[in-house]
Amino acid sequence: MNAEMKHKKIIEIVKDKLTCSAHNLDHVFRVYNLCLLISKYEKNVDLEILLPAALLHDIARVEESGDKTGQIDHAVLGSDMAGEILRNLEYEKEKIKRIKHCIKTHRFRTGNIPNTIEAKILFDADKLDVIGATGIARTFMLAGQFGQRLTIDESLEDYLNSNTVENGRLKDVSKHTPFIEYELKFKKIPDKLYTKKAKEIGVQRLEFMEEYFNRLEEELTQGA
Ligand SMILES: [Fe+2]
Ligand SMILES: [Fe+2]
Repeated sequence: MNAEMKHKKIIEIVKDKLTCSAHNLDHVFRVYNLCLLISKYEKNVDLEILLPAALLHDIARVEESGDKTGQIDHAVLGSDMAGEILRNLEYEKEKIKRIKHCIKTHRFRTGNIPNTIEAKILFDADKLDVIGATGIARTFMLAGQFGQRLTIDESLEDYLNSNTVENGRLKDVSKHTPFIEYELKFKKIPDKLYTKKAKEIGVQRLEFMEEYFNRLEEELTQGA
């Protein structure tokens, strides 16, 4: 089986696993395309590692969302699930190890740090998809899914004291808002990216996002 056929098989498997609106197959393909774009500006990128990793990176997302204990990390579980899928598709042992590393380290919050160029590109591509116009759309899709409001009535500090538990996890996701997500997370993204091209795109996307959220705040308090 050639690489293209293997990718098709992976897409079939991933399609059935991703049911969340913000982490569906469209997200996977956007990340895949951003990986291809960023890889053109970097040296010695092995697409045979990067592309399967991009396709498989969120395979355990649904397991994490459904886990009420907060123990499941979709990057860690996803890397194990991907290992199994790749073995069945007869990928070489060494390649599986490198693809698994990309998946395990694609996440912000964990201490697993990307240390190969492929893992860094996947990390960057995945983060770019949560900012800019796409990021705004995704965050409101999630807000709708969880019944969130546009604003909160308390200060950000009071909100954080009342709605977060260990490791910054939310107690009640329905009390969260896209605006808080922007303040706490999205603003910091460009600084955390590894590759030059991704940083460049990240800064542009964040500028647009900033304009949008400033305007939103202005409108929400107009006449108040
Ligand atoms: Fe992810
Ligand atoms: Fe992702």
